[in-house]
Amino acid sequence: MKKLILTMALMAAASSAHAQAPARPAAAASAGDAAFGARMLGPATGEQIFTRVCAACHMPDAKGAEGAGRYPALAGNQKLAIGAYPAMVVVKGLNGMPAIGAMLTDQQVADVVNYVRSHFGNRFKGAVTAEDVKAMR
Ligand code: HEC
Repeated sequence: MKKLILTMALMAAASSAHAQAPARPAAAASAGDAAFGARMLGPATGEQIFTRVCAACHMPDAKGAEGAGRYPALAGNQKLAIGAYPAMVVVKGLNGMPAIGAMLTDQQVADVVNYVRSHFGNRFKGAVTAEDVKAMR
């Protein structure tokens, strides 16, 4: 019984600590979340990250969807011509798109962006590097 009460007290303490979480500096939050995301995904290629994360909204064929929201196509999207744009969207989010890059490592962001820019009919030149992504954090 004592142990149960202690556990509950710890849970209450943990949840109130969590409520104050936004006070954490952004840099620390993204570094921590990236490590968490990397563990969740495990070693994943750009293709696997696309399939497991991006396809949920942008559809498996990257052609986007319209319904409850508007999910732009990434296939044939000229805005991907400059790699920094999609990398920035993944790192920072954009309106209805959450900042998914916060849960990915710099390399994972680069890999998924490079994958999208070179598949689904896209043939954009140049590759985004982990260093490029790091500079955007
Ligand atoms: C929860 C749904 C969701 C997920 C998951 C998601 N996106 Fe998005 N994404 C959106 C929405 C919604 C927009 C449109 C935002 C706007 O323009 O207001 C968007 C926009 C974009 C854009 C900008 C397109 C343009 O025409 O300006 C890019 C690039 C993009 N997403 C890439 C990705 C990649 C790569 C992933 C996976 C790492 C991903 N998204 C995962 C919802 C999502």
